[in-house]
Amino acid sequence: MRTVTVGLLGCGTVGQNVLQLLKRRQNIFDDLGVRIEVTGVLVRDAGRERNVPEGTPLTADPAFLQESSVVIEALGGVEQPLALLLPYLRSGRPVITANKALLAERWDDLREHALAGRLYYEASVMAGTPVIGPMSTVLRASTFTRLQAVLNGTCNHILTQMEGGQSYAQALAEAQALGYAEDPPTLDVGGFDTAHKLTVLARFCADGNFPYGDVQVSGIEGVTLEDVAQARAAGERIKLVAELCCGGEGWRATVSPQRLPTTHPLCSEGASRNALVYEGEECGTLIFAGGGAGGMVTASAMVGDLLDWLIGFPGHVPLH
Ligand code: NAP
Ligand code: HSE
Repeated sequence: MRTVTVGLLGCGTVGQNVLQLLKRRQNIFDDLGVRIEVTGVLVRDAGRERNVPEGTPLTADPAFLQESSVVIEALGGVEQPLALLLPYLRSGRPVITANKALLAERWDDLREHALAGRLYYEASVMAGTPVIGPMSTVLRASTFTRLQAVLNGTCNHILTQMEGGQSYAQALAEAQALGYAEDPPTLDVGGFDTAHKLTVLARFCADGNFPYGDVQVSGIEGVTLEDVAQARAAGERIKLVAELCCGGEGWRATVSPQRLPTTHPLCSEGASRNALVYEGEECGTLIFAGGGAGGMVTASAMVGDLLDWLIGFPGHVPLH
């Protein structure tokens, strides 16, 4: 049995579920001949009660990174994780992250590590519904033409609840209680989280350096109960839609609320559900759909990335 040391940054909605899943699926690691040793779990308040396995080494001191052969990042934010991860990546060790804001906004610092296969980030877009895996591998053979997607569970939850007559504020509070929302939730409702995710995806199918600033963003803050009811009466639903396609002057990336027929693939049921329609000349139209927010569904992709690394698969390499 070989011991693999894992450092975890963050022990909130996602981090706690990563720890639980590592324990629950211990047999998979046993089968690989690997014993996982968690070297440390970085938090702000190590004294707070959490739903984690007994003996979890919670700490506010990131010194354990020195002894970790792989790091799983579930902190959120941009500057703090970047300051911790950059020296770590530069030492040649791998990082698994769910942090789309970091990926979208600090790509200049991270790209060389992604190209080197050291960065694993399936969980950053559509959580546990695999889309980065296929886009970074088999789908490259096909000529990409367009994608359309619902990528934010919080907005989907709010808009779905509003269809039942719940107020915007109540539905947002509920999404926060369920652990779907970002801190601050303006990232969700303002469309910025969707734009972060669209940027990450664009780097696999449009341009390996696609800039976050090129996405035109509008959110759902202005959507009223009346708007939602009118759409329903017309056999439509309001969704926050991300779109990427080739316009006359290059790639056009947008995030905006749209009315779609209820039969549209982006209107599938499930409040935190995400969906993506991918169009390529040779592969045709593909539909991905599933859980896009929540602790365990996100942890499933992160532990999956850990298994990929252990087996010897490289991380997610963008277009060169
Ligand atoms: P969260 O519940 O707010 O947890 C964040 C954790 O990070 C907390 O344990 C917090 O410590 C710790 N932390 C934050 N800043 C810190 C600092 N400066 N120093 C030390 N510890 C710090 O967030 P989350 O929902 O788990 O999300 C984490 C990441 O996953 C984000 O990048 C998010 O975008 C991404 N993500 C989330 C979901 C989801 O459904 N929630 C899905 C996909 C991706 P304390 O507990 O002591 O405050
Ligand atoms: N805040 C995000 C959402 C979490 O609501 O979709 C998953 O990335």
